[in-house]
Amino acid sequence: MNVILVAAECAPFSKTGGLGDVAGALPKALARRGHRVMVVVPRYAEYEEAKDVGVRKRYKVAGQDMEVMYFHAYIDGVDFVFIDSPVFRHLSSNIYGGNRLDILKRMVLFCKAAVEVPWYVPCGGVCYGDGNLAFIANDWHTALLPVYLKAYYRDHGLMKYTRSVLVIHNIAHQGRGPVDDFSYVDLPGHYLDSFKLYDPVGGEHFNIFAAGLKAADRVLTVSHGYSWEVKTLEGGWGLHNIINENNWKFRGIVNGIDTKEWNPKFDIHLRSDGYTNYSLETLDVGKPQCKAALQKELGLPVRPDVPLIGFIGRLDHQKGVDLIAEAVPWMMSQDVQVVMLGTGRPDLEEVLRRMEHQYRDKARGWVGFSVKTAHRITAGADVLLMPSRFEPCGLNQLYAMKYGTVPVVHAVGGLRDTVQQFDPYSETGLGWTFDSAEAGKLIHALGNCLLTYREYKESWEGLQRRGMTQDLSWDNAAEKYEEVLVAAKYQW
Ligand code: GLC
Repeated sequence: MNVILVAAECAPFSKTGGLGDVAGALPKALARRGHRVMVVVPRYAEYEEAKDVGVRKRYKVAGQDMEVMYFHAYIDGVDFVFIDSPVFRHLSSNIYGGNRLDILKRMVLFCKAAVEVPWYVPCGGVCYGDGNLAFIANDWHTALLPVYLKAYYRDHGLMKYTRSVLVIHNIAHQGRGPVDDFSYVDLPGHYLDSFKLYDPVGGEHFNIFAAGLKAADRVLTVSHGYSWEVKTLEGGWGLHNIINENNWKFRGIVNGIDTKEWNPKFDIHLRSDGYTNYSLETLDVGKPQCKAALQKELGLPVRPDVPLIGFIGRLDHQKGVDLIAEAVPWMMSQDVQVVMLGTGRPDLEEVLRRMEHQYRDKARGWVGFSVKTAHRITAGADVLLMPSRFEPCGLNQLYAMKYGTVPVVHAVGGLRDTVQQFDPYSETGLGWTFDSAEAGKLIHALGNCLLTYREYKESWEGLQRRGMTQDLSWDNAAEKYEEVLVAAKYQW
């Protein structure tokens, strides 16, 4: 099958979160299964590997003529196509920057250009659009693609057998605006209704995700738990009715992880500054060495016995950073060390700075994003905290388990799917979970976790080993994506 994944970000070229990781890894796993796979992503900066293929095209967006060029690179069995336009270039430090209309116009241009890639961009001389083609669009940014595919092509008897799958990574972001925004998406008037949504928060408004969900042949969420949550009033953020009406085309597939990048045995970020690569066999010496190196790098007392608790993520309401902030006084009353890494809401960034300032010998709040530091915390910490209010899949808990770092999570969405609560009687489970987003519950779960760390070394080792030996690779998930693509093709 020919598969084209379209996303607003793709690691390692551009990444603000898990979406970038998925766009970077899933295509390679599909290619390993024998499919021809392309990724289409904006060209936010110059990427050395990607060459101009000499194709230029003009598109009308909001009455304006906009021109794009296509760049191409072939990496690990996947064709990467970068859409180049002045509206994307130089956004690399803030790819979602600009006001609502700027972003909307960029995404209109991007989706219009992306849907035509199979016809215009030569990839090794073979055309992707040979009739056995499926697009995988991701989140609201590319939710217009299924709509364009339908309106511009299938409604006219073109690309009749081309299918689209829309993946929901986060339904809280929807591309909302006033109904007038419809004039920017350049669609026939009878499409307006599919964009119109009414909810008590936004009133009647224009909603790109709504139209995408209706137009796509299949819809996926990035975990089973989340596929259930988005159907509820609380988890659907206004889109639950549409999802329920389209239940037949819905499914949840838990993300995998890139086991080349996230593997303590080969991790390049563990090769210097006192860190070391380790595996299941060398866990008992390798991980303590990484912990000592992390403590040293952060300027914390180098103590092997003190539990080191990590947090990595966007600093916002979704990630429950405020719950951690509430739990800080309790945590600091314990003999622990805490390191938090992330950027986001200014008041939450301030929480990190204040925590570090107040508890110099115990806590570090690193405001910023650093891939290297994320890897090193994942390796050096004993515990990873993820108190997310909602979490469609969550990747950091998966990375943590691969590194023998035990997760403590709020049991929602993908966190519930992937972290089974530890049971001391049967010695099963992978970490600690708590069932509502409250600081008290977090403290309770973390308290049990710390007790096990201190008093029950064998149980702790069991937790680490079970986490490390799971198959979390994309190969599993890719097989399921393939089933969905085939089902969409034959419309089962
Ligand atoms: C979004 C979600 C996160 C998920 C990621 C990749 O960032 O918030 O839970 O893991 O997408 O699917």
